[in-house]
Amino acid sequence: MPSETSIALRPIGVIRTPYAALEGMPIQPGGARDSLGRVELDPELAPALADVDGFSHVYLIYCFHESSGYKTTVTPYLDDTPRGLFATRAPKRPNPIGLSVVEVVAIDGNVLTVRGADMLDGTPLLDIKPYAPAFDAPAGPVRSGWLEGRGQTVGQTRSDDRFVGPN
Ligand SMILES: C[S@@+](CC[C@H](N)C(=O)[O-])C[C@H]1O[C@@H](n2cnc3c(N)ncnc32)[C@H](O)[C@@H]1O
Repeated sequence: MPSETSIALRPIGVIRTPYAALEGMPIQPGGARDSLGRVELDPELAPALADVDGFSHVYLIYCFHESSGYKTTVTPYLDDTPRGLFATRAPKRPNPIGLSVVEVVAIDGNVLTVRGADMLDGTPLLDIKPYAPAFDAPAGPVRSGWLEGRGQTVGQTRSDDRFVGPN
């Protein structure tokens, strides 16, 4: 598919979280373990939540709607060395798509309550998928590149202004 081809996505709901500002919020679900998020799905999609309660965790896939532009090299929150964008989870991406594995707490109609929501309040939701170790956990050894040995601080690290604004 040529890269000029556009793809139409539509939000299927909105994610409500305690985080109203881009600065000072968690950088990953590991920093939002005590925070409940409320995923408000479009009501006509409520039947699609059937059987989700059998899974302890789901992927939330969403749009970094307050991010503008992108960079090919960024300095991630957990490092002080510039890294290739695709070796990071930075929000300034050509397609501003975010991904978070969150814990399923409750389902009530079209509302999914989750623990570990690390996105801005009002974030548009694109998709929900079950987290399935049988599908997702690699069979062999896993390497973590520049993140090796740096992940322990993810719970305490908060965002700053480095990805805020057009540049
Ligand atoms: C480093 S990203 C990681 C998010 C996700 N867990 C991922 O891996 O794709 C998290 C940061 O993105 C920013 N962010 C969160 N929600 C956003 C939104 N809706 N629009 C723009 N930036 C957002 C916040 O600064 C937050 O700390």
